[in-house]
Amino acid sequence: MMLRISNLREYETAYRKSVEEPENFWSEIAASFTWKKSWNKVVTWNFESPEVKWFEGGQLNITENCLDRHLSTHGDKTAIIWEPNNPSEKGRTLTYRELHEQVCMFSNVLLKNGAKKGDRICIYMPMVPEATIAMLACARIGAIHSVVFAGFSAQSLSDRIQDSDCSMVVTSDGAYRGAKEIPIKEVVDEALRVCPTVQRVIMLERTGANVRIDAERDRLWKEEMGKVDARHEAETMEAEDMLFILYTSGSTGKPKGVVHTCGGYMVYTAYTFQNVFQHRPEDIYWCTADVGWITGHSYIVYGPLLSGATTLMFEGIPTWPDAGRFWQTVDKHQVSVFYTAPTAIRALEAAGLDYVRPYTLNSLRVLGSVGEPINEEAWHWYHEHIGKGNCPIVDTWWQTETGGILISPLAGITPLKPSYATLPLPGIQPLLVDANGKEITGNGVEGNLCIRYPWPSILRTTYGNHERCRTNYFATYPGLYFTGDGCKRDEQGYYRITGRVDDVMNVSGHRIGTAEVEDAINQHPDVVESAVVGYPHAIKGQGIYAYVICTKEHENVDMLREEIKAVVNRVIGPIAKPDKIQIVTGLPKTRSGKIMRRILRKVAEGDVNNLGDTTTLLDPAVVDAIRDGAISG
Ligand code: WTA
Repeated sequence: MMLRISNLREYETAYRKSVEEPENFWSEIAASFTWKKSWNKVVTWNFESPEVKWFEGGQLNITENCLDRHLSTHGDKTAIIWEPNNPSEKGRTLTYRELHEQVCMFSNVLLKNGAKKGDRICIYMPMVPEATIAMLACARIGAIHSVVFAGFSAQSLSDRIQDSDCSMVVTSDGAYRGAKEIPIKEVVDEALRVCPTVQRVIMLERTGANVRIDAERDRLWKEEMGKVDARHEAETMEAEDMLFILYTSGSTGKPKGVVHTCGGYMVYTAYTFQNVFQHRPEDIYWCTADVGWITGHSYIVYGPLLSGATTLMFEGIPTWPDAGRFWQTVDKHQVSVFYTAPTAIRALEAAGLDYVRPYTLNSLRVLGSVGEPINEEAWHWYHEHIGKGNCPIVDTWWQTETGGILISPLAGITPLKPSYATLPLPGIQPLLVDANGKEITGNGVEGNLCIRYPWPSILRTTYGNHERCRTNYFATYPGLYFTGDGCKRDEQGYYRITGRVDDVMNVSGHRIGTAEVEDAINQHPDVVESAVVGYPHAIKGQGIYAYVICTKEHENVDMLREEIKAVVNRVIGPIAKPDKIQIVTGLPKTRSGKIMRRILRKVAEGDVNNLGDTTTLLDPAVVDAIRDGAISG
């Protein structure tokens, strides 16, 4: 095991060392992995270009560290427990040896189908072990995976495939999600009509749905696996070679492809997994995220497997067949570490304790929260009714761009404070700045959260557009990485993330850009212009409120609203559907034409009597009309 922190003093010592001697600190941690060749430089960086390199000159393959390395010591340990969507379907488990074999075989399948080191391969799959196998096989042959959440529409999928010129797609015929069956392959077929770079599709049969097979392009997972050898020597990768691309929403434009590289990402995800959750070899660890998001990448797949953990993959949803599914699954598999999102906690709290009572939950040792701020009420419910008052909650703050957890308690070590992510992990130097970029020092303060020194899994670029990476994260406050989050630091120096300060919404823990939703709404033929803001939502954290100007008056406004939702569903996917749509005749704009979102946010929040200064508006009367037509409740 690598440098393991086991009490508060050790945390303080580790933290101090990580700031005073970062290179020694990280090289000692990195030394506990299997490298094919050691690095010559621990870190080179500047936040102006930006350019960050960790462990330069080092060579490795992350899958040797996830798989091969464990075979001699615990090859027969369970690596993956798979719990299917339907509780009456039989699940599966894979030992490290079995997972290794499957990954080697699928690596050979990829190669046989023409994939090469450096190629981009899109993975669009449900939560089945094959999604993990496909990711690891890409990493093993040196191909760059780009996993797209299987809830995204054909258009979102094709945008992502085109942006990184993927040569292959790995998918399934269909997917089960609660009571629904989703036609995954159909979405892929539609997306690929406009993706000429894709030469090959490999399809897993999951639901047995009747799908169209393109004899030239498509191959079946099962048949291909039957044709290959079970041995594969992992490709040698440079530490700074790309490991994966993951698309995420920003303030402006289309989602951008965040790039992570092999060496630093490996070191950081394993280090944080082991320390934050205080991992023990006998743990049954369950992160309820989807592999389509960064949480799935770092804390279902890489962090746990690098650590030789048993990681549970769940195909279903928290509320089907009923709202007891999580708790039933915890008891069934004797889960000891459980990591989920506040939105799920709030939904299950709302369902009531009758869904919790039938289960003992006495295997639980650590609880985690991720993806959005956890409100105090949800925190206490989780702590009391799920953790029975004796499981620490690690409220982990981080982002797609950070690769791993940056601010979080260490389970059982850091004294907790509800709704606070508490303290930075070793290696992380946070600071708060005001609107002018001036550092806000001292405690009991609030500002914009930045980080001043790189950590091994900081994003390296946004795929195909480095300038966008620079302007998004490194230009707002020169010399600093800007997170886009607002943050409080309390009297004792604990951090509490208050939410995004840019035009990114966080809906049920999913990041969605207001601009993306506006672009989608504007595709409706009768829409002239739209403006989208987030508003507080009891379960989702934030809901989506859209103000829409139409070309003509509609008699049936409800039907129009449904049509607009359908367009968003088609363009982005169900997660981005507006909760409320207000048809307006004008938007509050300044004389220079800028929409005053502040006012729109206030109205959406229901705070209509407190709109602040509206004198700079081109047409202040617009505000009265918007206020009168506001959708409340
Ligand atoms: C928010 C998810 C408060 C935050 C890992 C961040 C959080 C965005 C927390 C990143 C938390 C994530 N407390 N807010 N514990 N965790 N966030 O890229 O606004 O999907 O910037 O990564 O989620 O979302 P992303």
